[in-house]
Amino acid sequence: MSVSQQVFLRDAMRRLNLTRDVFAARIGVKRRALDTWLLPEGSQESRTMPDVVARFVTEIVENEALLKKYSQSAQSGPLRDRIAYEGKHQLLSVDQFSRESVEELFRIADQMQPIARRQKVSRVLEGAVLGNLFFEASTRTRVSFGAAFCRLGGSVCDTTGFTFSSMAKGESIYDTSRVMSGYVDAMVIRHPEQGSVAEFARATNIPVVNGGDGAGEHPSQALLDLYTILTEFSRLGKLLDGAHIALVGDLKYGRTVHSLIKLLALYRGLKFTLIAPKGLEMPEEILHQAGRHGHVIEQTSSLEEGLKGADVIYATRVQKERFAGEEIEGYSADFQVNKALVDKCCGPDVIVMHPLPRDSREGSHDLSVDLNDDSRLAIFRQADNGIPVRMAIFAVLLGVERLVQHSLRDVTWSPPSYIGPDDAIFPGME
Ligand code: NCD
Repeated sequence: MSVSQQVFLRDAMRRLNLTRDVFAARIGVKRRALDTWLLPEGSQESRTMPDVVARFVTEIVENEALLKKYSQSAQSGPLRDRIAYEGKHQLLSVDQFSRESVEELFRIADQMQPIARRQKVSRVLEGAVLGNLFFEASTRTRVSFGAAFCRLGGSVCDTTGFTFSSMAKGESIYDTSRVMSGYVDAMVIRHPEQGSVAEFARATNIPVVNGGDGAGEHPSQALLDLYTILTEFSRLGKLLDGAHIALVGDLKYGRTVHSLIKLLALYRGLKFTLIAPKGLEMPEEILHQAGRHGHVIEQTSSLEEGLKGADVIYATRVQKERFAGEEIEGYSADFQVNKALVDKCCGPDVIVMHPLPRDSREGSHDLSVDLNDDSRLAIFRQADNGIPVRMAIFAVLLGVERLVQHSLRDVTWSPPSYIGPDDAIFPGME
């Protein structure tokens, strides 16, 4: 097996669209045994899967692939050609993905996990330079895109805010983009105006990634959110098809939820409850696009009502910086997602997500910190997933995804076993 057994098994379950329970039954092993094979190599509980099981799983997956090949017109060619935007290797919108291509990207993200977890290093992007152009506030997106590029062996040049860029002197998007293309090999751009990143992309042939364009889209965030949901569901033995997803908060200006609902709509039979304070509801055109696939979409302004029975709670911050003179005060105290509410409305296997940052100032009533020690709170695991997913995006756009596996070397330093001082270890989550 050229990939780790964890990557191999996760990939097999995703391709077969089976929960852990059903997959264990399908290959005739105990669920507990499967769980130990799925733990990261080197963890105490991890066990090696017998060769005969690996061969059997390969056979089932190959059979399934053959069936698929005969039943659909086969997908072919590199992933970057299949997700291209107006013929270019750029990532501007989640609309570029199908369920197959998104899952192909996630198989590449799984292969990046040993690098993201600081067990391996790779230099496949040695010599390449990323231009990180952020004209709006950012911590996670800017740093994780930069770190992802560096962890593949590339280097990063940054510019932040308008004040320190030539845009403050009146330079156009076209000129900025064209000039930058002469300096760097890929660009990530965040800009406060919707559609602006597409304008940057039209002025260059190098890969451009949309790091957030106003209230428009945030495709890499939605990809890492979906990756998180699938990974967490795999651990919990759930399937995404048929799940209940509650999107909470500023659904009008929150670009993360705009991209996420469209991406989730690629799955089957979902129930969405959209819970927004009055005046911050999801825009009609996005509702229309997600609703085309026959999902159930319910809208409410009652948090308690909307969260009932949810499998995923996705909370968001009020995007006050985008308010166009509206008289909206943000969240009232009864709009806060907190432990008491989650206990009351949802089961023990709900996952609570947030793209972060959460507003921790007094009176903001954003996602409460009282869930911090609760295994259902997935926000830091979600943020961590930004690295493997963004590495996969770069590897695909720059066409090096097939080189990664053979480029891996052991790390030379010793990172701490747990990154956060408060990281609680929950069963099956090492
Ligand atoms: C979000 C953004 O910038 O859209 N943050 C992020 O990228 N993780 C969400 C927000 O700012 O509220």
